[in-house]
Amino acid sequence: MNQTLDIIANRKSIRAYEKTKIDQKTKDKIIRATLRSPTAGNMMLYSIIEVTKQKTKDKLAVTCDHQPFIAKAPLVLVFLADYQRWVDYFLASKIDEFCKLQNLAKKTPQQGDLFLACCDALIAAQTSVIAAQSLGIGSCYIGDIMENYETHKTLLDLPRYVFPITMVCYGYPTKLQQKRELTQRFDPEYVYFKDTYKKLSEKDFQAMFKKRHKQIFGSRQAIKGAKNVGQHMYQKKYTADFTAELNRSVNKIMTVWFNQQP
Ligand SMILES: Cc1cc2nc3c(=O)[nH]c(=O)nc-3n(C[C@H](O)[C@H](O)[C@H](O)COP(=O)(O)O)c2cc1C
Repeated sequence: MNQTLDIIANRKSIRAYEKTKIDQKTKDKIIRATLRSPTAGNMMLYSIIEVTKQKTKDKLAVTCDHQPFIAKAPLVLVFLADYQRWVDYFLASKIDEFCKLQNLAKKTPQQGDLFLACCDALIAAQTSVIAAQSLGIGSCYIGDIMENYETHKTLLDLPRYVFPITMVCYGYPTKLQQKRELTQRFDPEYVYFKDTYKKLSEKDFQAMFKKRHKQIFGSRQAIKGAKNVGQHMYQKKYTADFTAELNRSVNKIMTVWFNQQP
């Protein structure tokens, strides 16, 4: 192991923070590292909003599926897939005239553009997580930032071609969090294939979920009536109210990106 692999291997999501603030120099180090992330076409199709107002953190703690630790995080960054900056720059670059001259189609950001921008924003987010970890700062992703689009659009003043793909909370971990065990992962053979995709059999699933089954059903965490991890997760995550809201909200964002008149 080297220091980088060690940092990656020991990272875990941190949801309880010491009151200690993250000073500006440390924040700058995280942001500088983040902005060195690989980015599609070197276009930096993302933006980051640091949420500094306590009132906004309090609101996000509610709108992101009621997770109070968001309000207590010393640093909160929202990662935005952002095509707005380029759309605005294209306009400022008199792209209309250029299209006529070059016989080019006039376009607005499409599905592939959105996905690339999401890749950029998520890669930047993960760089920030690792950079923070290297400085002794724990973090936790908040996927629920994709919910309640209308509220978040107003709260963060998001223009049309900006998609809040993830949020990350950061802070120095409490002693208890430092001691917490790492979470389990699937064994590589179920996730990492060579050359072609491998669909898993029932036998594979049984072996794959053996450890998780023990953990969930041995600790009274299981959903009532569930007989296996599949049933447990189907009710707990896949069909949960927050997932329904996630899907409604993302659908709305897509409508705004693709169907609204320019
Ligand atoms: C895209 C994404 C969204 C997540 N959203 C949340 C969230 O809203 N709340 C939360 O407490 N953890 C969230 N997490 C953290 C995961 O629950 C966590 O990574 C997973 O349980 C594995 O645990 P570990 O990070 O400690 O290894 C999210 C992680 C990812 C990658």
